[in-house]
Amino acid sequence: MFTQLAALAGAGPGERVLDVGCGTGYLTRRLAPLVAPGGRVVGVDPAPRMIAYARHRSPANCVYLVGEGQALDVPGGPFDVVVSSLAVHHIPPGARETAVREMFRVLRPGGRLLIAELRPPRRPLVRRLTGPLTRPVSGPVSGPVSGPGEAGDPGEAGALVRAAGFRVQAEGDLWPLLCYVRAVKP
Ligand SMILES: C[S@@+](CC[C@H](N)C(=O)[O-])C[C@H]1O[C@@H](n2cnc3c(N)ncnc32)[C@H](O)[C@@H]1O
Repeated sequence: MFTQLAALAGAGPGERVLDVGCGTGYLTRRLAPLVAPGGRVVGVDPAPRMIAYARHRSPANCVYLVGEGQALDVPGGPFDVVVSSLAVHHIPPGARETAVREMFRVLRPGGRLLIAELRPPRRPLVRRLTGPLTRPVSGPVSGPVSGPGEAGDPGEAGALVRAAGFRVQAEGDLWPLLCYVRAVKP
């Protein structure tokens, strides 16, 4: 799935890519060879231990920084591509709109955005059973099963992307677990 995600991002040689909420850098590392030679991938995540792990395994053309999606203070921009996988639902609900606007701000005109989230199971019973597993660890441990703030709210990402000023190019599923929004900054 992550190899497919990296391909969907559409990054090519020489391009500058930003991975927001990069975690341990799993997707970042898959993007690195796609932008070589000459390109670079910057990963940002607020968890210092995630960033330490990512740095430890980093290809030469990856840089990792501690930071939050809603306040992107990243050198090396403007970026050609911004990606964010399984991270938007970890951002506090009230800060998500700001975070997607930040992604818009750091992209060059014509730059591309790819946001991927966990796709909620379609069957209500399966959704009820898997809901607790797909919530952010810092989030509420009780509450509605499919409310905002949980993994897999495909409509939310699309709405945030449109509200930020992006032109949506594609929305879809990546079997078996992900859904994505791909967009461009006009
Ligand atoms: C499930 S992990 C996904 C990591 C990585 N993108 C991947 O797909 O493997 C979610 C990540 O979101 C990060 N995160 C939490 N709050 C965030 C915020 N405000 N801005 C950006 N990332 C955040 C967490 O630290 C965590 O590393």
